[in-house]
Amino acid sequence: MKILSIAMLGMLSLSQPLPSFADNANGKNIYVQRCAVCHGADIKGSGPLANKSTPPTPDLTSAAFKKRLHDYPGVIVSSVILRPNGDLIPKTLRENGVKMAPFAWKVNDFRDLNQYMTSVIAKGR
Ligand code: HEC
Repeated sequence: MKILSIAMLGMLSLSQPLPSFADNANGKNIYVQRCAVCHGADIKGSGPLANKSTPPTPDLTSAAFKKRLHDYPGVIVSSVILRPNGDLIPKTLRENGVKMAPFAWKVNDFRDLNQYMTSVIAKGR
């Protein structure tokens, strides 16, 4: 009986769909904590600060951004590391009284965030 239930458990877990990257808890958590205030939970640029900067926060699920991500797969990570928009993000946070705790990024954090965002964007919601 015990062996049978273990075998059934095994079958059960095999029949479960593999977790998609959208279930990536660390990536989602970082996104929610550090990006969603502008980019929105849906990554469409719907966060409360989305329209508080010039330019405003873009919709990263748009066809244009999907093409950019396809042509330049490092764009999400580099937008965090290189801060290509200079002081725009810290300035927008500051002007709106949003404090974001400093964060010691590790390699897996970049990987997880990238996987999470890429999979939400790919779903095209
Ligand atoms: C204060 C608001 C704000 C926060 C917080 C913010 N962004 Fe953005 N983001 C913007 C704005 C505004 C732009 C468009 C301006 C630009 O690209 O220079 C942008 C652009 C981007 C782009 C497109 C870059 C490109 O070159 O096409 C990516 C990717 C991105 N952000 C990722 C992130 C990630 C990841 C986080 C969290 C770690 C984040 N952003 C946090 C406002 C924000």
